[in-house]
Amino acid sequence: MKIVVIGGTGLIGSKTVAILREEGHEVVAGSPKSGVNTITGKGLKEAMAGAQVAIDLANSPSFEDKAVLEFFVTSGRNLLAAEAAAGVRHHVALSIVGTDRSDNGYFRAKVAQEKLIKTSGIPYTIIRATQFMEFLGGIADSGTDGNTVRLSPSLFQPIAADDVAPVVAEVALAAPRNGTVEIAGPERAPFHELVARYLKAVGDPRQVVRDPESRYFGGRVEERSLVPLGEARLGHIGLDEWLRRSKA
Ligand SMILES: NC(=O)c1ccc[n+]([C@@H]2O[C@H](COP(=O)([O-])OP(=O)(O)OC[C@H]3O[C@@H](n4cnc5c(N)ncnc54)[C@H](OP(=O)(O)O)[C@@H]3O)[C@@H](O)[C@H]2O)c1
Repeated sequence: MKIVVIGGTGLIGSKTVAILREEGHEVVAGSPKSGVNTITGKGLKEAMAGAQVAIDLANSPSFEDKAVLEFFVTSGRNLLAAEAAAGVRHHVALSIVGTDRSDNGYFRAKVAQEKLIKTSGIPYTIIRATQFMEFLGGIADSGTDGNTVRLSPSLFQPIAADDVAPVVAEVALAAPRNGTVEIAGPERAPFHELVARYLKAVGDPRQVVRDPESRYFGGRVEERSLVPLGEARLGHIGLDEWLRRSKA
């Protein structure tokens, strides 16, 4: 089967491409570096020719509110139009658990991306994942003030990229659900606790402070804003195991 992975050079994209190639599929790893650009449209038509499945794992180069919204809307529109023209039969995209339950600019962009997919007429499956463990450092940085990291005690259930990619590949090979599946890591704990464990393990001297008023990238978060509320598939790699693998 021919499968196009947009963002095929990224964290999740490169792992997904490797799994699908290993299984014998013809995979195009599309990204600006490989001449496929969903913003300018360059190389999209050629990449999509003869493809049955398209997986959108692209990410915005800028997380600034306006730029990220523009990225996901323009990229989504161009990609879905190219898929419709090529007769793609399954669109798969990676979104975020709770993206409609907080109000930061990045989440608003992902909601807009999901809306385009749901109204595109192309059979689809949206996978909503919790935060990647690989993003823990970025989360700590976002709450940092001097040597202190202020984080909310709301629940957090990060997932390792190595747990995400196999689910993306599996979903892409299955029938479209015209719906959403949720995936999360195996451990659920307050944000400040997990980030403190991470910083200690990597030898980062910053002190984590529990702050119920602190926002997540500018958005308010309540106790269960960022964890699955219903049924979710769980990964196998906990924080300690992920740290062990990262150091190896
Ligand atoms: N971070 C999280 O915790 C989290 C949680 C849930 C879901 N997600 C979602 O997961 C997805 C993948 O994230 P990631 O961390 O794997 O991304 P990443 O490592 O930042 O990779 C981004 C990819 O997008 C490509 N790209 C950028 N601009 C493009 C364009 N104009 N046209 C085509 N491709 C373009 C990049 O290509 P080049 O290498 O050529 O620049 C790269 O392959 C994102 O949609 C994100 O919203 C993230």
